[in-house]
Amino acid sequence: MSHAAEVFRKDYRLPAFLVDQVDLAFDIRERTTVQARLQLRRNPAVAIADEPLVLDGRGFDLLEVAVDDRRLGVGDYQRTDDRLQIAVVPDRFTLRIVTQLDPEQNTTLEGLYRSGSMLCTQCEARGFSRITYYPDRPDVLSRFSVRVEADAQRFPVLLSNGNPVESGALPDGRHYTVWDDPFLKPCYLFALVAGDLACIEDHYTTASGRDVALRFYVDHGNEARVPHAMASLKRAMRWDEQVYGLEYDLDLYMVVAARDFNMGAMENKGLNLFNARYVLASPQTATDADYDGIESVIAHEYFHNWTGNRVTCRDWFQLSLKEGLTVFRDQCFSQDLNGEAVHRIQSVRQLRTVQFPEDAGPMAHPVRPDSYVEINNFYTATVYEKGAEIVRMIQTLLGRDTFIAGVQRYLREHDGSAATIEDFLAAHEAESGRNLDGFRRWYSQPGTPLVTITDEYDARSRVYRLRLKQSHAPSPNGAPKQMVPIPIRFALRDHDGRRISVSPQPPLLPAPDLILLEDEEAVLNVPDIGSSPNPSFLLGFSAPVRLQFAYTSDQLVSLLLDEEDGFARWEAAQRLMLNAFFELQASGPGDDTRALLDALQRLAARPVEDRALLAELLRMPSESYLASQVQPLDAARLTSARDALRLRIAQALTGPLSVWSAAAPEEPGASNAARRALANVSLWYLMSTRVNRVLDIGLKQAASPNMTVAFGALTALNDIDCPQREAAMDAFLQRFRHEPLVLDKWFALQAGSAIGQGVERVRSLLQHPDFTPNPNRLRAVLGTFWRENLRAYHRADGAGYRLLGDQIAHLDRSNPQIAARLCDGLLGWKDIVPPQNQLLRAVLVDLSQQPLSADVGEKIGKALL
Ligand code: PHE
Ligand code: ZN
Repeated sequence: MSHAAEVFRKDYRLPAFLVDQVDLAFDIRERTTVQARLQLRRNPAVAIADEPLVLDGRGFDLLEVAVDDRRLGVGDYQRTDDRLQIAVVPDRFTLRIVTQLDPEQNTTLEGLYRSGSMLCTQCEARGFSRITYYPDRPDVLSRFSVRVEADAQRFPVLLSNGNPVESGALPDGRHYTVWDDPFLKPCYLFALVAGDLACIEDHYTTASGRDVALRFYVDHGNEARVPHAMASLKRAMRWDEQVYGLEYDLDLYMVVAARDFNMGAMENKGLNLFNARYVLASPQTATDADYDGIESVIAHEYFHNWTGNRVTCRDWFQLSLKEGLTVFRDQCFSQDLNGEAVHRIQSVRQLRTVQFPEDAGPMAHPVRPDSYVEINNFYTATVYEKGAEIVRMIQTLLGRDTFIAGVQRYLREHDGSAATIEDFLAAHEAESGRNLDGFRRWYSQPGTPLVTITDEYDARSRVYRLRLKQSHAPSPNGAPKQMVPIPIRFALRDHDGRRISVSPQPPLLPAPDLILLEDEEAVLNVPDIGSSPNPSFLLGFSAPVRLQFAYTSDQLVSLLLDEEDGFARWEAAQRLMLNAFFELQASGPGDDTRALLDALQRLAARPVEDRALLAELLRMPSESYLASQVQPLDAARLTSARDALRLRIAQALTGPLSVWSAAAPEEPGASNAARRALANVSLWYLMSTRVNRVLDIGLKQAASPNMTVAFGALTALNDIDCPQREAAMDAFLQRFRHEPLVLDKWFALQAGSAIGQGVERVRSLLQHPDFTPNPNRLRAVLGTFWRENLRAYHRADGAGYRLLGDQIAHLDRSNPQIAARLCDGLLGWKDIVPPQNQLLRAVLVDLSQQPLSADVGEKIGKALL
């Protein structure tokens, strides 16, 4: 086990020393030498006068330490694994640190590392202290100037944050560039890139008329795949000006695409680093979903320039201050641009599939955690997505204009400094005059609240009554759960489908269609109702809760067919599908299955208005979502029932599915993308009939020049054991062998396929000549395996668990962050049927007896508690 220490939020102390200026000089050779000159002074806000200087640092060779140009001997300072301490220093001084790094050997992808032929950095959360000694914490803000020197041929491009101020040639074929960033920043926003990269440049004129150069740096040959990311960036810049009144603040904005990257992307000031999959796209290599992902990640990182960079976090417990808010902003951007309902449905699907289970498992934590062992383990769906939901609820409650004014006030009050979630709430309180204590509780307690609603109609008094109740699962440490404010948007309809308006009264606030459930219980009496109405709750998914209401099948069918709120229609479809799934799993087809099929047939008989929405309405819940809905998980039963449901839907809707699946256009554009989405989901169902003509269509479309069409066909074929699948997969591999991002798709399909011996196939994928242990490839194989291939992963003999466990142990030695991500597949052993749960537990125990990183150690330790 690891002995890494737990860090507590309550232990926060102001930094003892401040850094006014950082001058870095990188000398890139076989190894890289870094000279750091720090202008340090004691923090006047801290009383203790003779506190020693303590700096963070690890993983490099230390060549020199000098205080005010006086070189220190080894007796003048102390070093531990991850610290440097100098007992006696002046109140104000210059510290020179010279370190030597070996980026070639750095497999953690943190600090300075090599990706392809370039060198790049990743500093969030604590990667900067792999470069030099420094107070590696987000509340120490400084001005950075950076000189980079390297071989001119191997590294013609030398980048860092801010503005280029000087560059020139040096003897021996070397050259240098100096960068200066005028904005104060914490070291986690530092970045450096050295490489031989193509540059695509464009321009943006800000609202106030300033010209900003936009530069994308990508591997040579990928230039033609940048336009979508570039256009997305300009849309994001415009949107932030129009909606939040926020303009970009430097004259240059750079994005670099790296092949090897642990996360999605990184918002370093003026120099974003991206996982290449969130930059590069062409219709031949990227799906429509990839296009959407690029647009939202580009926007996300851009939006961080204000919510994250101009105002940063005091400590890492406040991570959701920048991430929850920025996810919320990127979600609003995507909703505004691409249609509200469909985008909201996709966000909710993600939240329910990943965040809800996380919040019910051993790694459950508040959006603002109280403690952590390894901060990298807290870049979670809870901090990001649940954090965004809390911000969304605040907006719902305050109204959009007041909310935006509150964000602007928060940015104004904290510009150039490090803030807390409390500061964010306080700004909204000041702006709106409302008390937000209830939201403090949303931030501080884990778990997904359950809202139970019952209704009754009294024909004599003509009163319709709703009773609402919130409840919270007890927290693991026994702390009592507190009630939280839950905004529930709802609608009542009469039997002709007409909306019944409800006059404002408590607990309705502030709009007539919004219930604010603040206490444990609330009752809403609606007078003057002629007959029992059809209710619909949580329109637009107005709160991140589970909601229980005994909808009848008829009510769900009418919601699916006639509700205006797209999200509510989808929710009705999901409930109908879940009911049918449970029925098939328990006893075979009956009333619920009939109700679903009947509803879908009626849906299909209607003229199609919104194809993208229809595609979502038809889509079946994923294996992993279903897994979160059954207790305990019996993967073999689950997958059989899901297969049966797929086939029944295909048989009941063969006519319309055939029509829709035939219309998969190959040209780009949103309306074509909607057609493709509908065609792909249709083909997916039809394929389950195993009719030869359909299998042949799959084989043919898998060769389409349009990646959405091709990938849709492969996805449809993927679980069907037939020669067409084999032929299509082989052809795809040959065609894209030299396209890493597309090859990831092939690996993911293989790892997720239900056919044959999944465990053996995954094992051979890891030995495949085209396999490399790059994070994207690892996620494609192992992430897809545990998340989307329940049948193979939960094989009765535990071979799937052992395979994942072995890989985690192995990867932990090179890249602990990636290893720890994959641990999520091991954490849920308590939710699995016996005796399989014990096989999974044995893998955890086995791992716990090996030497582990803090990352993996923390997760395994918590899972075994
Ligand atoms: N801050 C990055 C983002 O959301 C995520 C990230 C965290 C990237 C840590 C790398 C390392 O936008
Ligand atoms: Zn972010």
